[in-house]
Amino acid sequence: MEPRAAELVDQLIDETLPRVVELRRKLHARPELGFQEKETTALIRQVLGELGLEICEMNLPTGAVAVLQGGSPGPSVGLRADIDALPIEEKTGLPFQSANPGVMHACGHDGHMAILLGTALVLRRLKEHLSGSVKFIFQPAEELLQGAKQMIEAGVLDGEPLERIYALHLWPQVPFGHIGVLPGTAMAGADRFSVTIQGVGGHGANPHLARDPIIAAAHSITMLQTIVSRETNPAEPTVVSIGKIQGGSAYNTIGDSATFEGTVRTTGRDAYDKIPGVFRTQLEGIARATGTEIACDYRRLCPPLVNSRDAASEVLELSRSLFGEDRALQLTAPTMVAEDFGLFLEKTAGCMFFLGIGEERLLHTPTFDFAEEILKTGMKLFVMLVLSKLSGRSG
Ligand code: NI
Repeated sequence: MEPRAAELVDQLIDETLPRVVELRRKLHARPELGFQEKETTALIRQVLGELGLEICEMNLPTGAVAVLQGGSPGPSVGLRADIDALPIEEKTGLPFQSANPGVMHACGHDGHMAILLGTALVLRRLKEHLSGSVKFIFQPAEELLQGAKQMIEAGVLDGEPLERIYALHLWPQVPFGHIGVLPGTAMAGADRFSVTIQGVGGHGANPHLARDPIIAAAHSITMLQTIVSRETNPAEPTVVSIGKIQGGSAYNTIGDSATFEGTVRTTGRDAYDKIPGVFRTQLEGIARATGTEIACDYRRLCPPLVNSRDAASEVLELSRSLFGEDRALQLTAPTMVAEDFGLFLEKTAGCMFFLGIGEERLLHTPTFDFAEEILKTGMKLFVMLVLSKLSGRSG
């Protein structure tokens, strides 16, 4: 790595920080739900435009992509932040609390955006030291697990292949200021399903004249739990959760239909590939056995998030050298929470790492907040990851 660029980084980050904090607060005050991030996108584009970055026209209603070309040719590195908020009424009482009723940045995406914009501000000033280019990706609708798919289909990864792609997430389960990295599968894949059972209604006293959809729903739900216990590798965690069930209208009546909905989380690729088929087989069997008709709408949201082992060890090693041996943690178990950055990692080797904000900060809660000091740590790691790939190779 070119020593001069690296030496400049701390100073540049300090100079940039007030602007980054201001941007974070502005973004926090105007949270928008997935695929509705209009104002957010406008602000991001404004900052990227001011920097003179080449903005890629993706033909997408929200989200933004820009490229910073270094002073000499070389590989390309991608950095991604998610930009959407959650349908939560904020109760932090912060002076920059959400001004949009019922919507809140409760997952730290305001922080992710501020860090990525800050990284662009710093790298822009190191442009001449870079051999290669950096693609900044601001992705919509992560919470819906649909934005990555939309961006990839729109061509975000077209053009020169990225040598690496990185993303970070503010993470309560990692101590403040520490970096958590899990090589290999780090986050679960997620699917969602909705099952509709059509039976034949009747009098509760005459069940033999009806086809009870509630009995069929009960058997289906119990049977589907055997996917976890009997169909998948117990060493690779899987979850089947039914979050909603509806059916019937009176205590002494057999209704004619029932529905239930849920989510499947997988960490193993085999399970991810196999489970939709098992769903079909099991539900067909229950339909036959109960004389009902069962329809299942099974949707893929995102695959398990798999960090490249090389990229993950690079992040760990760099974090150790930047922040100290004890502040880089190699995590041991994946989280069952899903992140659609996994779709990017199917196309490009890279790593999503966790930036520790401490356990008292719970994601997706109305009082979620984080100490803004962490923005510096995120920027430093992003900037240095880029420098580690794009400097020292000129000539
Ligand atoms: Ni998030």
